[in-house]
Amino acid sequence: MRPVEIKPGVYWVGVNDRFTQLFEGFWPIGQEGISYNAYLLKDEKNVLIDLAKSIKTDEFFEQIEEIIPISDINYVVINHLEPDHTGIITILRKIAPQAEIIVSEKGATLLKAFYHIDHKVRVVKDQEELRIGKKILRFYSTPFVHWPETMMTYEVTEKVLFSCDGFGGYGALRGAIFDDECTEKDFYLREMLRYYTNIVATFSRSVLKAIEKLSTVPIEMVAPSHGLIWRKEPSLVVNLYKRWAEYAFSPAEKGVSLLYGSMYGNTEKVMSSVLKGISQASLPVEVFNVAETHVSYILASLWKNRGVIIGAPTYEGSLFPPMAQVLEMASLKHVQFKTAAIFGSYGWSGGASKRAREIVLPLKWDIVDVFDFNGGPTEEDLKRAEAFGFDLAQKILTQP
Ligand code: FEO
Repeated sequence: MRPVEIKPGVYWVGVNDRFTQLFEGFWPIGQEGISYNAYLLKDEKNVLIDLAKSIKTDEFFEQIEEIIPISDINYVVINHLEPDHTGIITILRKIAPQAEIIVSEKGATLLKAFYHIDHKVRVVKDQEELRIGKKILRFYSTPFVHWPETMMTYEVTEKVLFSCDGFGGYGALRGAIFDDECTEKDFYLREMLRYYTNIVATFSRSVLKAIEKLSTVPIEMVAPSHGLIWRKEPSLVVNLYKRWAEYAFSPAEKGVSLLYGSMYGNTEKVMSSVLKGISQASLPVEVFNVAETHVSYILASLWKNRGVIIGAPTYEGSLFPPMAQVLEMASLKHVQFKTAAIFGSYGWSGGASKRAREIVLPLKWDIVDVFDFNGGPTEEDLKRAEAFGFDLAQKILTQP
């Protein structure tokens, strides 16, 4: 892509990644892609804010050279050391040795650990300012959005927040880079939620602290390092991140995620009756086969819905393994404050619902019903399943 002037003297110089299949080696982005947005500020001193993963380095540096010679970069601000934003720093150091790297104190430690760089490094403190000509940069320490060293950089005169991972999302840019130019905003908002739950959600308390810290800062444009730049509605993404962060500490939206796994169709058959009950109560529901769906997508649903139904058979005296893996991930990501119910088929010993309860025990889930049935469901079982779905949905709908 070509550089884009997003404000006078401020250029987007990012790259799209449609090659990486698994972000962080784990989260699928093969279909959706991701962008690594970097920004070049041209003034008396020229500043590059954030970099990119070590892909498309030619394209990245060609973009800069359309604006200034690489040798004219004075500062490189590294808001966050994760290699999706810093992978090309070793090459940059070789071709722009004059550039001073600006990081937080913890950032300097990680810069040395990851890249063995410790010279021409300037450490900045929370809310320290750096005048680069007419423009002024102010650095806000925002630890754990996403790593402990993370900061955001605010340009005072143009009121642009370079927020790095914060307010970012999956999804390669599809031509448009601004919210008001984009005709596929639903795609980006959906992928932003998935990104939030996969990458940031564990640190929701830190997200709320960062948003509170920035609440008095006049922000005209949110320029994250992943996804769209928000200039028409910068408050939209700040408010979305705030809402999602609050779901870590209180019930989320009135909807239910139905997770199921089935070895020979018995649990699946009962699930159909459970769904009938939910639909009779008119509660929104999202259905996932845990054996076939990557947990990345399931997490997004679990995070935003306050209801969870776990439908899985007993497997070797315990829980169907793909379901156990999903619940363990929910536990790792602190998916809390859910209203839940469990059902599933057992052949002789049972054990699925007991194990499911054990995994989610620390998560403050209110388990309102458990329905274990033996082998293939009877007509009575199917009626019980319908009531099971209806009752859970009603309980959620009547919550405050
Ligand atoms: Fe986009 Fe935490 O890196």
